[in-house]
Amino acid sequence: MTHSQETHMNPTPQVIDDNLLCEEAVRDPHAYFSRLRDHDPVYWNARHKAWVLTRYDDVARALRSQSLTAERISPFASAVARSAPSPGVVTTFEILQEWLVFRDPPEHTRLRRLVARAFTPSVVRARIPEITQTIDDLVEEIRGAGSVDLIREFAYPLPAVVIAQMLGVPPDDRDLFKEWSDKITALVFGAYEQADRFESASKGMIELRDYLLALIDRYERHPEDNLISVLLEHEDDDALSRDELVATCTLLLFGGHETTTNLIGNGMLALLDNPDQRARLLADPTTIGPAVEEMLRYDGPARATVRLVKDAHEIGGRQLEPGQRVFLANLAANRDPEAYADPDSFDIGRNPTNHMGFGVGIHYCLGAPLARLEGQLAISALLAAFPRMTLDLPAAELDWHGTMLSRGLQHLPVSLD
Ligand code: HEM
Repeated sequence: MTHSQETHMNPTPQVIDDNLLCEEAVRDPHAYFSRLRDHDPVYWNARHKAWVLTRYDDVARALRSQSLTAERISPFASAVARSAPSPGVVTTFEILQEWLVFRDPPEHTRLRRLVARAFTPSVVRARIPEITQTIDDLVEEIRGAGSVDLIREFAYPLPAVVIAQMLGVPPDDRDLFKEWSDKITALVFGAYEQADRFESASKGMIELRDYLLALIDRYERHPEDNLISVLLEHEDDDALSRDELVATCTLLLFGGHETTTNLIGNGMLALLDNPDQRARLLADPTTIGPAVEEMLRYDGPARATVRLVKDAHEIGGRQLEPGQRVFLANLAANRDPEAYADPDSFDIGRNPTNHMGFGVGIHYCLGAPLARLEGQLAISALLAAFPRMTLDLPAAELDWHGTMLSRGLQHLPVSLD
C-alpha cells in the first residue's frame, strides 16, 4: 500500500485513539464518535479491521441495505473452529447461528414471522400487572436503604425476572436463569474482544439448552399462558423446530435482559444529571412515553450494530469490499446534528420517534414494545417512590462496561431520599 492510500484510509489518528474501546470511547462515546463523524464519517479502523459509520443517514441506509449481510456468526464460528474448540463451543455456535438477528431473508423472514406472534401489543399489554408487581417488589426491597447501587439492586434483576416469567420459567429456577443470561451476554457483547470467554460461556449455554428442552417438552404437553406455549403453536403448517425454539428462547433471554437494564440505568442517569428534565417529568408523569424515547436517543443501550459487506459498494466516497466488517454506531447516529437539533442536550419534550435506539429495517428490535413498557413502568415507579434521589458520584466518575456493542453502567450509586 502506498503512503497516500494509507493516509486516505486512515486519516484519523490525530483526532481519535484508534482503539474503539479506549478510555474515552467507553466513558464518553458521544464526544469520541462526534469527532469521528466530523472528521471521517466512513472510517476504516485498521486495528479492529472494520468500517465505522457515524452519520445518521449512513447508519439508517446501511441497516436497510441488501449489500450488507446480518449473517456475521458463520465467519466467526469458522475462525473459532480452527482453534480446535471443545464440543460445548461447537454447540454454542450452532445455537447462535439459529438466532434470527444473525439471519438474512428468506430464513429471517420466516423466523421473524413465527417469533413475532409472541410480541404482539396485546401479548405485551397482558403482562402489565405482572411487571408492575415485580417493579413494586423491587422498590419495596430498596426503600429505606439510604444509598444503593441502582443497577445491582433494581435495573439488573428486573428484566431477568420479567423475561423468565414471560417464558414460563418457574420462580425457583430464576437465579439459575440469570447466571446463564450473564454468560451468554459476556459471549455476545464481548465476543470481539474476549475470545477466551468462550469456554465458560459455552458451559452455560449447554446447561441452558438442556433446561429449555425440558421446559419446552413440559409446555408442549400442557400449554400455559407463556411465550414458550405461544412459540410452540403451528401457523399455516409451519412451526419452529426444536433447535429453532431453543435458539429463540436464548435470544429472547439475551435480547431482553442487559439491554433493558441499560435503558433503565442510562435513563435514570440522564434524569439525575439533568434536574430540570427530571422536574418536568415529575410535574407531568404522563410524558413518560416521549421521555423514554429521548433516553433511547440521548444515551441508549445500543452502542453499535454489526454487519458484513456482501457486495462491493461505495459509501461516502469509500469503497467497501465483500467480507469486511462494518460497525454502525447507533449512538453516533442518534447524536448527529444533521438529524437532531442541539443533539447533545437531553430534552424529554423532543419525542424523537425516528431514533436508532432499536435499529431500523427488517431487524428492528422485536422486543421494542416490551422494552418500552418495562422502561416506562420502571422509571415512573422509581421517580414516584424516590423523587429526591441524587447521584452519589459525579456523572463523569461513573464506570461503564467496556464493550463494543452495548452502552451500560457497571454501577449507579444513588442516595434514595
Ligand atoms: C431497551 C432495550 C432494548 C434495546 C436497546 C434493543 C436493541 C435492539 C437492536 C438495536 C436490535 C437490532 C439489531 C440488529 O439490527 O442487528 C434489536 C433486535 C432484536 N431485539 Fe432488541 N433491544 C431491547 C430489548 C429487547 C427485548 C426486551 C427483547 C425481547 C425480549 C428484544 C429482542 C430482540 C430480538 C428478537 C431482535 C432481533 C430482531 C430481528 O433480527 O429481526 N430486545 N434489539
